[in-house]
Amino acid sequence: MIKKCLFPVAGYGTRFLPATKSMPKEMMPVVNKPLIEYGVEEAIQAGMNGMCIVMGRGKHSIMDHFDKNYELEHQINGTNKEELLINIRKIINEANFTYIRQHEIKGLGHAILTGQALIGNEPFAVLLADDLCINKEKGILSQMVELYKQFHCSIIAVREVPKNEIHKYGIISGKNIKNRLYQVDSMLEKPEKSTESSNLAIIGRYILTPDIFSIINKTKPGKGGEIQITDALLYQAQSGCVLAYQFKGERFDCGNVEGYIEATNYCFKNIYLANK
Ligand code: UTP
Repeated sequence: MIKKCLFPVAGYGTRFLPATKSMPKEMMPVVNKPLIEYGVEEAIQAGMNGMCIVMGRGKHSIMDHFDKNYELEHQINGTNKEELLINIRKIINEANFTYIRQHEIKGLGHAILTGQALIGNEPFAVLLADDLCINKEKGILSQMVELYKQFHCSIIAVREVPKNEIHKYGIISGKNIKNRLYQVDSMLEKPEKSTESSNLAIIGRYILTPDIFSIINKTKPGKGGEIQITDALLYQAQSGCVLAYQFKGERFDCGNVEGYIEATNYCFKNIYLANK
């Protein structure tokens, strides 16, 4: 039902400099797999096969990663190293990758609007690859797709964060309509620490209905002079319905050093060693 997933990867990744000076943040490995590959696996697990990547300058290694490397593959053909490529070969066979360039870095809302040419007029997922989300039983996007089948409206992933960290996130508030599910009535992008608000923070997974494109088109630059997806979603929430879903699973903010190290330790122990 939801076949396409949009990956906005055009940002500069300034919190991880100097590593991200010439290397895309999304290509940083967690153990032995780049962040974006975890994201693509999550989307495939949720039944999607169209991976729509919103690119920026210097992000070509992402295209190369999801393509054949004849020289390398010829070189290791028939050796025991070949098994290290099983996963990525499967991804390349199962999914279609399309790319578009965001010429100016004008915010996540603008990046999503740039992806319209790849998405068309259908509901779609958005996945921010530096938010690494892991749940063994059922991936976060799979959980959200199930909800979409029931409610047919935009859904955003949220998670409780400590009150002293709300200034780093988009924060929602709304009516609790059932276990883990809220009908959003307000949303604030990176509120001041002192603001009286909930501590339900938006995490980088969204299911969006296609009317979001025309809403973003009309959205004026907000916080930081950027076109914020939270502003467009607030409009959508007030004129229709947006749900926030408190997902099951682990989440690591790999856009900063601490989160990235935590993710690496977690994946080494729970995925890499566990599967050895
Ligand atoms: P972030 O602000 O978290 O990522 O944007 P960033 O800008 O790359 O990193 P810092 O803050 O400078 O360290 C959230 C996501 O939106 C994408 C980013 O690539 C990231 O995945 N994004 C953001 C775009 O694709 N285009 C934009 O104009 C802004």
